Amino acid sequence: MSESLDGLHPDTQVVAAGRPPRTADGNLNPSISLSSTNHPGGPIGYGRFGNETWSALESAIEALEHGKTLLFPSGMAAINAIFDLLPIGSVVTASRNGYTGVMNVLASRERNGQLEVRYVDVSNTAEVLAALPGTSLLWIESPTNPALEVADLPTIIPAAKNLGIGVAIDNTFATPLLQQPLDMGADFVMQSVTKYLSGHSDILMGSVSTKDAGLFNRLSDIRKFGGAIPGPFEAWLALRGLRTLALRFERAQANAMELAIRLQSHPAVERVRYPGLPTDPHHATAIKFMAGFGAVLAIDVKGGAAAADKACESSKLVTYATSLGGVESLWERRHRWGSESPTIPVNLVRIAVGIENIEDLWRDIDQALRVSQE
Ligand SMILES: Cc1ncc(COP(=O)(O)O)c(C=O)c1O
Repeated sequence: MSESLDGLHPDTQVVAAGRPPRTADGNLNPSISLSSTNHPGGPIGYGRFGNETWSALESAIEALEHGKTLLFPSGMAAINAIFDLLPIGSVVTASRNGYTGVMNVLASRERNGQLEVRYVDVSNTAEVLAALPGTSLLWIESPTNPALEVADLPTIIPAAKNLGIGVAIDNTFATPLLQQPLDMGADFVMQSVTKYLSGHSDILMGSVSTKDAGLFNRLSDIRKFGGAIPGPFEAWLALRGLRTLALRFERAQANAMELAIRLQSHPAVERVRYPGLPTDPHHATAIKFMAGFGAVLAIDVKGGAAAADKACESSKLVTYATSLGGVESLWERRHRWGSESPTIPVNLVRIAVGIENIEDLWRDIDQALRVSQE
């Protein structure tokens, strides 16, 4: 679709990728392709097999993740497509503290006898490596949601590949701006495009990228015949949002770092979890290979679940809602969802930091935390 983007910085690729060819009077942006069927002779054929607007976004994510990309209607649909590749009875080694949706899918596939799951602390490299023999797929989310643990991807991925194990990385928290796991040897990178890539809390979408043509074709068939396809309008909005990813992420990360520093000495906070803090147990791993620390942090609020709830209910600017990756800051006590992992403290509040002014954010979070202790 667009000219070669090789050699361009990712900050430029988010702006330049996925554009139509430069022709006289041609559009700068792809249009929203609304057609359920196509004339014969081309690569699409029918609306469940492909779509011009998807292709524009897929080629942009391809430039960033360094692998051919397929869009799905949500991050969960993308994740399920990867698990659908596994033969019945396969062993999956997975993050103990991953996103609750993934934890649910793994547990239900295990109950149905489709998979056997080994849960590991992905920040404990020795524990991950010990679990690998006999595994078909290693599923790693890093940094993890919501505990912000960091896996040593440059060590773990090659070790798994040496054993012939498939490796899939959920790159949602880091985005391709911070790490590109396909270049470390991973077979799949998955994104909840819903989050940073689209960036405005107005759509749901997912993607899977891979360098392996055979795996790409199998995933493409799963999408084609499973029928879980994204809407062209959502794909167009996601690409529009992607254009500002680098700018949004830069500001959100700077805000997250500043909040993490200030929250460390807040009287209502027991612990701050953010790999950017030099005192964080995951800092040393993160600085080895990540280009930044992301824009999500978590705090353990003094006074238990009730105080944590009170804090979230007392904010006026920061919205008490789930999700992350949008321009606006959100926070929530993760255990308000019954499905949260028991290894996550009941008083943990995840803060998805947005791009607002830092002093406005601080004033609001500070006052809400003070109210939580009254
Ligand atoms: C790390 C991570 N992976 C996957 C998902 C699922 O994505 P979606 O909500 O787009 O289905 C989420 C959603 O919160 C997430 O945080």
